[in-house]
Amino acid sequence: MKARMVVDQAFRIAEIDNRIYGSFIEHLGRAVYGGIYEPAHSAADPEGFREDVKQLVRELNVPIIRYPGGNFVSGYNWEDGVGPVDQRPKRLELAWRTVEPNQVGTNEFMKWAKGVGSEVMMAVNLGTRGVDAARNLLEYCNHPGGSYWSDLRRKHGYEQPHKIKTWCLGNEMDGPWQIGQKTPVEYGRLAYETAKAMRLVDPTIELVSCGSSSTGMPSFPEWEAVTLDHTYDVADYVSLHQYYGNRDNDSANFLARTMDMEHFIHTVASTCDYIKAKKRSKKTMMLSFDEWNVWYHSNDSDAKLEPWSIGPPQLEDVYNFEDALLVGSMLITFLRHADRVKMACLAQLVNVIAPIMTENGGRAWKQTIFYPYLHASQYGRGVSLMPIVDSPKYDAQDYTDVPYLDSAVVFNEEAEEVTIFAVNRHLEEALELECDVRSFEGYRLAEHIVLEHADLKAVNTAAEEKVRPHSRGTAECSDGYVRGRLTKASWNVIRLS
Ligand code: AHR
Repeated sequence: MKARMVVDQAFRIAEIDNRIYGSFIEHLGRAVYGGIYEPAHSAADPEGFREDVKQLVRELNVPIIRYPGGNFVSGYNWEDGVGPVDQRPKRLELAWRTVEPNQVGTNEFMKWAKGVGSEVMMAVNLGTRGVDAARNLLEYCNHPGGSYWSDLRRKHGYEQPHKIKTWCLGNEMDGPWQIGQKTPVEYGRLAYETAKAMRLVDPTIELVSCGSSSTGMPSFPEWEAVTLDHTYDVADYVSLHQYYGNRDNDSANFLARTMDMEHFIHTVASTCDYIKAKKRSKKTMMLSFDEWNVWYHSNDSDAKLEPWSIGPPQLEDVYNFEDALLVGSMLITFLRHADRVKMACLAQLVNVIAPIMTENGGRAWKQTIFYPYLHASQYGRGVSLMPIVDSPKYDAQDYTDVPYLDSAVVFNEEAEEVTIFAVNRHLEEALELECDVRSFEGYRLAEHIVLEHADLKAVNTAAEEKVRPHSRGTAECSDGYVRGRLTKASWNVIRLS
């Protein structure tokens, strides 16, 4: 089987916003307690945060991390998590039915994030709370001093403001599972008023209006149309969330799920543009895909967990090789929509549906999905180019005309590097790729990284990393063409320089 591509410097989609390589830490399961924070661990720093975990996060070069939720934020009193640690309350946490000890809160997390080189995308509680708590939290975090909340931060040992730029106006407020779920009109009004007050405290912030929790929500895309009618002028982004699973064990269909993601992005962008036209606005609303991943492996074991413990093993999906392929395709989808998708958060980062896992008291290790995320973050910075692809196609259970070749191309002008990201979705056959790169005169092959495995269900564990990339791909570059074999069911990173 053969696939052809044309890549040209002139086919520019947009400059990539590096924040599409963001991630997410929620107070959920062992993400915080037993994940990033484990004071009794031999690798803990003086503040109780694990150095081995920090090292893996740094390796991923994560530009922004969403915090503290997720569903958690809709019941969170941020005041519980600041001030002397020994005086902080333990609370029943209703989203995940655990006990939240509040040993880690806003200041500790901000310090941790700074240490791993990440900015924070902070979410405010629009479930049980509203305008007042949001504007107070913003004053606490961003105001330099001379007011009640900013002086309290200074009293807590943080003289300098955190200067958090990006704020989410609540989380998944369309979902019946959300504490304090809202109708679109209720949410639109509340988000608008909250945004207005927050902008009065700090006009430099950017705000994310809540979009639908998935394409499967019955209120999608009406939710976007109604809520944005209220928030269009005060928000900079609308959020998208999407998780996929392979419950029927239909891998061809599973690997085609990004067709749904494409449809999601198109529909949300179109709805934004409809509101833009309706309002005669000059502003284009950008998209923040601030939760995305594969999530289904842990559903059954989570249903059996006893409630009210601290840091239980929740949402601990162990990812297999085919999950890494879909994660690669999801990253490719963001790159092809670099003109509208400006932020994205792999949900999540540590232990909870995560690329990084830890053993309590033991090792930190890399899941299969760590690798496509690492490669995209490493080599996917610069300008996204639109590849013209001619690929054989297949029909799957839920999608027709699915190209076997899924690809995106990034041109890093500064480093003089071109990177072709490509997934071969064919489960039995290799794809012979021929890619016209004549507009990149003088470029040569630097590396062809491949992630492949004979068993789609192969997983990594703390003891053994079965799924890991190698650089023995067969691509060659000569006479302005890249030619090479994309082995069956594989993730490929072809680098030219
Ligand atoms: O990431 C796990 C959960 O998924 C988040 O808390 C929620 O926002 C979404 O439903």
